[in-house]
Amino acid sequence: MAVTEPLPGTSDLWEPELFDWNELENKARDVFHRYGYCEVRTPIFERTDVFVHNLGESSDVVQKEMYTFEDRGGRSLTLRPEGTAAVIRAIANKGIEQGEEVRTFYMGPMFRGERPAAGRRRQFHQIGVEAVGSNSPWMDAECIAMLWFFLEKVGASGGKLLINSRGLPQDRPIISQALTEYFTPHISCMCEDCQRRLNMNVSRILDCKNPACQEIINGAPHISEMFCEESKQYFSRVCQALDKLGVPYEIAPRLVRGLDYYIHTVFEITHPGLGGQDAIAGGGRYRITPPGMKAAVEGIGFAAGMERILMARASRGVAAQGSTDMDVVVLCLGEAAVPQGLALGEKLRREMGGLRIKVDFSARSLKAQMRTANKYNSRIALILGEDELAKGQVLCRNMREASQESLALDKVSETISSILK
Ligand code: HAM
Repeated sequence: MAVTEPLPGTSDLWEPELFDWNELENKARDVFHRYGYCEVRTPIFERTDVFVHNLGESSDVVQKEMYTFEDRGGRSLTLRPEGTAAVIRAIANKGIEQGEEVRTFYMGPMFRGERPAAGRRRQFHQIGVEAVGSNSPWMDAECIAMLWFFLEKVGASGGKLLINSRGLPQDRPIISQALTEYFTPHISCMCEDCQRRLNMNVSRILDCKNPACQEIINGAPHISEMFCEESKQYFSRVCQALDKLGVPYEIAPRLVRGLDYYIHTVFEITHPGLGGQDAIAGGGRYRITPPGMKAAVEGIGFAAGMERILMARASRGVAAQGSTDMDVVVLCLGEAAVPQGLALGEKLRREMGGLRIKVDFSARSLKAQMRTANKYNSRIALILGEDELAKGQVLCRNMREASQESLALDKVSETISSILK
């Protein structure tokens, strides 16, 4: 690996690829604002306990994926592996009135020390939302519908929505007991992660993607059959609401998601345009206790991987429009013309809003500078040579028609407008 290359699982992003990224971010803002969500940006690093406490000691993210380090003051800090716990900390820090609803969205880099693969990065980017203050199943359904709409808007529709419930914390002892009884006789044939999960958090075994474990998992009892009445009711109301909103879904009885903070609704959207890492987005309802607070905050949200959305929409042939072309290139022939050329470029950028103007102040030959104009696909070349300087004029060349005329400097903007019309 060359020393200039970014580290494995990270990338440098450049235009034109970034046109797609920017489009995604702008469409996210547009869609989420329509539902009354407002943007928040939290720091890239947080105190480690913000994540450990809420994502769960037994989760893969906490066990093996967090970038955790000590700062100079001996504090344990972590590069955020996800947005939810950090956003809930930020909401708690701002203060929430009793019964107040707060709807937020965020976008930016997240960090997990996973083995890099197609669609699996160590620095990846999420667009996510978190809404707190409403404990209604309608809220869950609307949040999922918003994700569905967002994916449609960015050209990444065609996915499959998988949905399940984790029930309430009071359901867990019965579920854990039933799953422990089921898995214990099989555990010696299961992977190391499953063996660890048996004692730490047995329902997470259901999340294992290992094919050998899958066969055993397929025979496990369905957790939803052990739910209390309230959990069952909640889930059926979410499903009814999704039916009403026309969002198609499939109930996935083994979907538990990899983070411990979930209660009730959990969901994922998989997409056929992705490879082995086929989850384009995931989320659910959760209870998170911000640091220093006794009471948990309940919310609902999701996060979608930006890299994966881009892969999904590329698989459908969708790409952003964007270009690095220039409208005008100013060619300065000789050092003496450079100050005039620079001033002309500056004046036109200010006078003619939105125009892209590159001033070539290399003072190279006309031929070399014309190559620059062609490289930038420029519609117009403004040429400043000795003659033009002496007369207070500029030579304006229409690059498409290969025609040119000498103009007084104060007539340049008019002519540019008519050529670009
Ligand atoms: P998550 O399922 O861990 O959930 O991540 C959400 C999405 O981020 C995934 O579906 C995937 O598209 C993307 N993603 C995750 N890890 C990687 C990676 N290493 N490389 C590329 N993309 C990745 C959460 O993060 C929760 N905070 C979601 C949530 C919000 N739940 C409630 N609110």
